[in-house]
This record gives sequence, C-alpha cells and structure tokens, in this order.
Amino acid sequence: MFLLVIILMLLSLVIGSFGVSILFGAPFVATKQKMMEKAFVKAGLKEGQSVTDIGCGDGSVLLAARKSGAGKLVGYEINPILAYIARFRLRGGNVTISRENMFNSSLEKTDVIFMYLFPKAVDRLRAPLSKLPQTTRVISRGFPFTGVIPMRSFKVDGSTFYIYHVKDLA
Ligand SMILES: C[S@@+](CC[C@H](N)C(=O)[O-])C[C@H]1O[C@@H](n2cnc3c(N)ncnc32)[C@H](O)[C@@H]1O
Repeated sequence: MFLLVIILMLLSLVIGSFGVSILFGAPFVATKQKMMEKAFVKAGLKEGQSVTDIGCGDGSVLLAARKSGAGKLVGYEINPILAYIARFRLRGGNVTISRENMFNSSLEKTDVIFMYLFPKAVDRLRAPLSKLPQTTRVISRGFPFTGVIPMRSFKVDGSTFYIYHVKDLA
C-alpha cells in the first residue's frame, strides 16, 4: 500500500511537470541532435560562440551546439525532470542549465538564441529578446515571429528554421 502511494505520488509529479511545460510554452518534443548539427552549419554558427536554448528540454540542442564547436552553453527549462536530464547529459564544460520559467528570466548576453516553442510563446519572447545586444541571432524552429520577416530561413530534414537579427525584433 505504502509503495503504491509512493508510485502514485511520483507519477503525478512526472505528469504534473510535463503538464506545466504545455501550459507555459510548449510540450517537450526533442530536436534530433544530428538535425540540429546540420542546422547550426546552415545557420553559420562559429567556433567558440555562445548558444542559449530557451526551453532546452533534455539538452539535445545544446549537445549539438557543443559538437558544432560552440563555447558557453546556457539552457532554461521549466520542467525539473528535463532540467536535471539536460544537466546530466551536458556535465562538464562551460554549461549552465537553469530550472526557470523563461518568461521570468533575465536572458543573459549570448551570440545565438535557439527556441522550439508554440507560436504564442515565440511572439511573447519578442520583446525580451529585442533587448539583447544587436548582434545576437535568434533561431526559431518551426514557428516564425508574427509580422517579422526573417533574415533567412532554411529546411533541415523537413523542418523549417527561421533566423533573425535581434535588431529586427525591436
Ligand atoms: C518543443 S520542446 C523543445 C526542447 C528543445 N529546445 C529541443 O528543441 O530539443 C519545448 C521545451 O520548452 C520547455 N518550456 C515550455 N514552457 C517553458 C517556460 N515557460 N520556461 C522554460 N521552459 C519551458 C518545455 O518543458 C520543453 O522542454
């Protein structure tokens, strides 16, 4: 009986944490590491550049960034279980994974911002992102900002990636 209660509690914790993700920005769907490595090449990621993934899930995008030569890596993730997995997968090196709601985070200066979120969340991030240094580039997988023409876009394995200069988001 006691074991059953513990299992039920753990189950509701897991379900609850994934429910929070959906409610706040997007459910967890990982971007495949190989796909992201191709996308970073097409996006022109340079050796040593810093990369931030807003809603970093299990850290797959940041792992791809590291493999593509990125320097500092930062991830924000609302789901504590995913944040823990991302921390574990990315252990070692210059990495910070914050278990935070991205809408309440003060986004750090970075060279490249990546996001794979619902369209509403993408648009909600426009104002905070526009305050980052003008040279920052934003990569959005799947969903563009409403009413902003991307600097360019490209497809990798059937998925569209939109690239923006922060200055165009203001
Ligand atoms: C579609 S997944 C993308 C995961 C990862 N970026 C990737 O491409 O592999 C979206 C992620 O955003 C996280 N998320 C949703 N709302 C969030 C919020 N308000 N703050 C931080 N993370 C959030 C979800 O938990 C989920 O892991």
